[in-house]
Amino acid sequence: MDSNSDAPTIRPARESDLAALTAIYNAAVTGTAFTSHLAPLSVDDRRAWWQAHQDPRYPILVADTGAELTGYASLSLWYDVPLYAHTAESSLYLAPSSQGRGLGTTLMRALLEEARRVSHHVILARIWSDNAASIAMCRKCGYEVIGIQREVGFRSGVWLDCVEMQAIL
Ligand SMILES: CC(C)(COP(=O)(O)OP(=O)(O)OC[C@H]1O[C@@H](n2cnc3c(N)ncnc32)[C@H](O)[C@@H]1OP(=O)(O)O)[C@@H](O)C(=O)NCCC(=O)NCCS
Repeated sequence: MDSNSDAPTIRPARESDLAALTAIYNAAVTGTAFTSHLAPLSVDDRRAWWQAHQDPRYPILVADTGAELTGYASLSLWYDVPLYAHTAESSLYLAPSSQGRGLGTTLMRALLEEARRVSHHVILARIWSDNAASIAMCRKCGYEVIGIQREVGFRSGVWLDCVEMQAIL
């Protein structure tokens, strides 16, 4: 999926990936202030998330080096009513050692291609406003900022703003 031969393969997630996917997410929970969970999740905690992504309209893609998974991107249900059937929400997490080298952009572009393939029209992203890397990566992939939800999050005594972005496919 990338002309660089060292680049990981981007492929759909398998159930056997769930522990690695949980570890990647937990690295962001413990190492950044950019997740919506405050404490690490167990693999069992993550099973409902996994089940919700067995519908082909809500895929999970992984970056696989052959030795390990270095990141994943997913599409989630935005709103469970019929008129929102062509709208989904994106998420993307990389292992810390794989950040800042273009993999996020590669994975997001692959996710948007998959979103087109399964007939989504709009992809939304919600990003805490101090997550400059995520906002920059989404812009590079064609998202634009459509609004800011003021003070909807609360962490360590601080109210957090959430930036809403959208890509129209
Ligand atoms: C956010 C994340 C997915 C971005 O992926 P990445 O591979 O690190 O980003 P890329 O290397 O593809 O960079 C994309 C663009 O963002 C820019 N960028 C990266 N970090 C930045 C920062 N801190 N401030 C501003 N721009 C930044 C890059 O310069 C690049 O633009 P360019 O190619 O024009 O120079 C990744 O860093 C990550 O997993 N972070 C931790 C988890 C997280 O925050 N997930 C998102 C939750 S909403």
